[in-house]
Amino acid sequence: MPARTRLLLLLCTTPAAAAAEGRGVFAAHCVPCHGADGKARTPAGKKLGARDLSESRLPDAEIERQILDGVRDAKAAHRMPPFRDKLGNQEVAALVSYVKTFRR
Ligand code: HEC
Repeated sequence: MPARTRLLLLLCTTPAAAAAEGRGVFAAHCVPCHGADGKARTPAGKKLGARDLSESRLPDAEIERQILDGVRDAKAAHRMPPFRDKLGNQEVAALVSYVKTFRR
């Protein structure tokens, strides 16, 4: 196997690669509400009351559930949309790791 292929394979399985994937998926789907810094200081984030992810202390399973199912208000309208049909398992796992990097 050529060295470059080996390097690529290695890179794709490291935590750093998962973090990079998480950053990309977050930029594509989450930044409009949560902001690039996770603090939700965007117009949509303020309007909807999105959470500051640096303050979040949710356990992994709960973060995953919330990404998959979204969050509804008392009238059952979505405050955060569900991503179950938009993201694959690996993307969701990468996001769970990535959102925790905002924590202080
Ligand atoms: C349309 C706006 C919107 C988008 C897009 C969005 N969110 Fe949210 N998110 C919210 C809102 C609003 C809340 C607060 C819900 C509540 O009342 O608990 C929230 C809460 C969260 C929480 C829970 C924080 C806590 O501790 O309570 C996490 C984690 C989260 N979002 C991650 C994500 C990720 C990852 C994505 C991208 C896949 C994403 N969100 C996309 C609006 C959004």
